[in-house]
Amino acid sequence: MNEEKKDVLREVRSHLRYRELMGTREVPVTGNLQNKAGGVIARSEATRQSPPTRDTRRSPRPSGTRDDKQVALDELNTTQVKDCTKCRLCEGRTQTVFGVGNPDADLMFVGEGPGRDEDAKGEPFVGRAGQLLTKIIEAMGFKRSDVYIGNCVKCRPPNNRQPAPDEMATCLPYLRRQIEIIEPKVIVCLGATAVAGLLQTDQKISRIRGQWQEWDGMKVMPTFHPAFLLRNPEMKKPVWEDMKKVMEYLKSTTAS
Ligand code: URA
Repeated sequence: MNEEKKDVLREVRSHLRYRELMGTREVPVTGNLQNKAGGVIARSEATRQSPPTRDTRRSPRPSGTRDDKQVALDELNTTQVKDCTKCRLCEGRTQTVFGVGNPDADLMFVGEGPGRDEDAKGEPFVGRAGQLLTKIIEAMGFKRSDVYIGNCVKCRPPNNRQPAPDEMATCLPYLRRQIEIIEPKVIVCLGATAVAGLLQTDQKISRIRGQWQEWDGMKVMPTFHPAFLLRNPEMKKPVWEDMKKVMEYLKSTTAS
């Protein structure tokens, strides 16, 4: 296949993933969207059932194997995070919510803090917003278990209020350590609170979303929070544009 056709296919796939994110389950297929053997290549259902696999190999990093990283994360959790009482948020929690996913992930998502569902389950992003995040991850061609998902604060704020700046500052060393261990190539920062907490900026999310930022030498892509997308579905499109930048960057760093 020549380069031009590959570009067209890439665009079609990207558009289908976006349509899928918007809730489209079926797309009328014309002859143009069938492969040489007559097989359908552009049906949203098909991409949903088997998300495109991505080559996530990369050059080895000096700092430890996946197992080493898992051990380091477990140790951080059990010795410091699990029973943390450094701020008032510990008073209302059922349990701390450490983080989940691939300890050696190229891509890490950072949210604000656990809500009711996460507090009950001990896992980040498992409620409605989490389900949308999972869809975004899958639309990008990954499984949830390929990436790492964490939060700025590890305890649920009362009544799901925003974590206060001092609470985020107290919890930040845990997130910092998680990032140091995982060494992701890209951090996607979800929503205004996470952007303020991690990047220590007062720039509005609507201003900096989609623009690469740097945190401790790492690339950070700020974007809207999935809970915001549930209330404002028209904002899924800009988020998808942001995720396309992340996908492009990750692809550029992946060995062929
Ligand atoms: N919102 C977040 O920011 N984090 C979660 O884990 C769940 C919802």
